Amino acid sequence: MSDLHDLCKFPVRPIDSGYVKQLNHYLTSGIPATYTVEEAYKVLNNIEDDDENSESVSNTTPLHLICQHVPKDLSSEELSIVEQMITTLFEYGAGWCFIDVNNNTPGCILIERGFHNSSLYQLILDAGVRAELLLRKVSEYDMEFIDEDDVPNQEDEVVPELVTELTKEQEEIEVVQKSNKPEIDDAPDAPSQNQDSYLNTKLEYVDNALITKDRKDGVMMSWESDLMKLGCDSLFKGSIIEENEIDSEINILNIGFGMGIIDTMIQAENPTKHYICEAHPDVLKKLRDDGWYEKSNVVILEGRWQDQLDDLLTKGIFFNGIYYDTFSEHYSDMLDLFDFVVGLLKPYGIFSFFNGLGADRQIIYEVYKKLVDIDLQNYGLSVTYTDVEVPKETLQYKDKSVWDDVKRSYWSCPVYYHPEAKFIEL
Ligand SMILES: C[S@@+](CC[C@H](N)C(=O)[O-])C[C@H]1O[C@@H](n2cnc3c(N)ncnc32)[C@H](O)[C@@H]1O
Repeated sequence: MSDLHDLCKFPVRPIDSGYVKQLNHYLTSGIPATYTVEEAYKVLNNIEDDDENSESVSNTTPLHLICQHVPKDLSSEELSIVEQMITTLFEYGAGWCFIDVNNNTPGCILIERGFHNSSLYQLILDAGVRAELLLRKVSEYDMEFIDEDDVPNQEDEVVPELVTELTKEQEEIEVVQKSNKPEIDDAPDAPSQNQDSYLNTKLEYVDNALITKDRKDGVMMSWESDLMKLGCDSLFKGSIIEENEIDSEINILNIGFGMGIIDTMIQAENPTKHYICEAHPDVLKKLRDDGWYEKSNVVILEGRWQDQLDDLLTKGIFFNGIYYDTFSEHYSDMLDLFDFVVGLLKPYGIFSFFNGLGADRQIIYEVYKKLVDIDLQNYGLSVTYTDVEVPKETLQYKDKSVWDDVKRSYWSCPVYYHPEAKFIEL
């Protein structure tokens, strides 16, 4: 523990401007905003950094300490000081998503301590959104980072990219610890991460789930049925042209068949045309076996949406509702999809999707919620979210959870944010 760390534990009340002054003093003297309790411990105890064993298990930063120790009975003046401290730390490069010794990010700690709706949590959330937008810009331009080894005395400087990588690694650790299950493979070529690898992986329909045969990754699970119902209802809202005027031709596009849950619901509403885009051969076989090819209003687009949707654009086919729920894709894929969505959606149409972005950690889920909002606005679309409680069994990692026969859980948030996007009215 260092003086900086002590300060962030608020040893003296009231919390006044002296705290900000002192914090600025430490940071301007060269102590990194990311200086961890673990690093300070090593320094105090003369422990050499052993590269072999330095796969840091935790990074308890000053921001974590603030979140852990901020008193619950803050006066408004004190709150303003703590806000300034957090802002100052971010100005000096604090990371929003480092993982501490208890496997928590600063935001996780605030949620746990009942500060979810506070301005302090909001500051961290905003920092997360900024960091993700910055990262995207950085990777767009293929910027190079200076190798740390080339810069003497800057070994503690934090490159945002590294923060994210570290967090991903440590999230794996988290899920393994909580689920007490075998190691999860999120390597770049794992089926859950990579489309080529996924499309060449055998799938299996088991009770209440579609999973990868060998690895038991959950591709789709029936606990999501209620969420699919919400999705289906949203799509058909896009058939309302104006109050009391329903479109004479209702076209729906669903991307990703999976267990056919949402498609069965869409069929029940009897749309004029129901397009289903599906890429996996085993799922296409299921569509064939279950008679989907024979349905008169169904058009099956065999292959990846990336290869199929162009054709719809050139044919001038437009949709009242577009739903997106795939597997082994990333947010960057969704950003590519938005290009098609704006071209294929009718002016009053609705775009919705299974919103599992970052859903294995609540603060990350909320960062994505905001990012989607920002990104869709750039396309002239506005998104509204409805809060939905998810089944309790998705949150358990012990006996009788929905993840029992599934290796890779993909959900651990108490609330689902159901998205509904449509063109902003001018
Ligand atoms: C989570 S499931 C969809 C579940 C579906 N919403 C339901 O209600 O059962 C994902 C599906 O997307 C398919 N998929 C994955 N990547 C795809 C892509 N690029 N294009 C089309 N389908 C894809 C998968 O094969 C899988 O069938």
